[in-house]
Amino acid sequence: MIREIITYPNKLLKQKSHNVEDFNNELHALLDDMYETMVAKNGIGLAAIQIAKRLNILIINLPNKEDNQVKEDLLEVINPKIIEKKGSTLYTEGCLSVPEYYEDVERAEWIKVEYHTRDGKLISCEYDGLMAIAFQHECDHLNGELFIEKLPYLKRKKFEKDWKKKLKGKS
Ligand code: CO
Repeated sequence: MIREIITYPNKLLKQKSHNVEDFNNELHALLDDMYETMVAKNGIGLAAIQIAKRLNILIINLPNKEDNQVKEDLLEVINPKIIEKKGSTLYTEGCLSVPEYYEDVERAEWIKVEYHTRDGKLISCEYDGLMAIAFQHECDHLNGELFIEKLPYLKRKKFEKDWKKKLKGKS
């Protein structure tokens, strides 16, 4: 089922999420809904909080070498922890909760992470490139943070001004 994605400045996006305790059918249904929702909105990543579920769940599905987004490449991540970070990299990010806004964000270039699969298996993994960037972006959601909070002061001010204008135009 495709769920509604909440957008900035919805206050829920500022809430910290909680760990998943039961790796049951309810979790699997939620993961399936998250995938359907992300694909329907042409996203490459989604955190549960973006569909108003305060749970430490994120999914990432990067396009492959042929630039196709295939479900075999879907990464489902439960209760993630970033253990180690190295280096820095700049990438133009976007977010389904801040639609049609894109800006450069600096993040670690390499990360070492731990998380659980949908069946509760503990995974330890290292990522770089776009996967490392997306993983950090989605983990921020679980901590109640959006990528716009990483912008330098003046860019952030301009964003707020433009966003207010945009919201006004829609009402
Ligand atoms: Co996002």
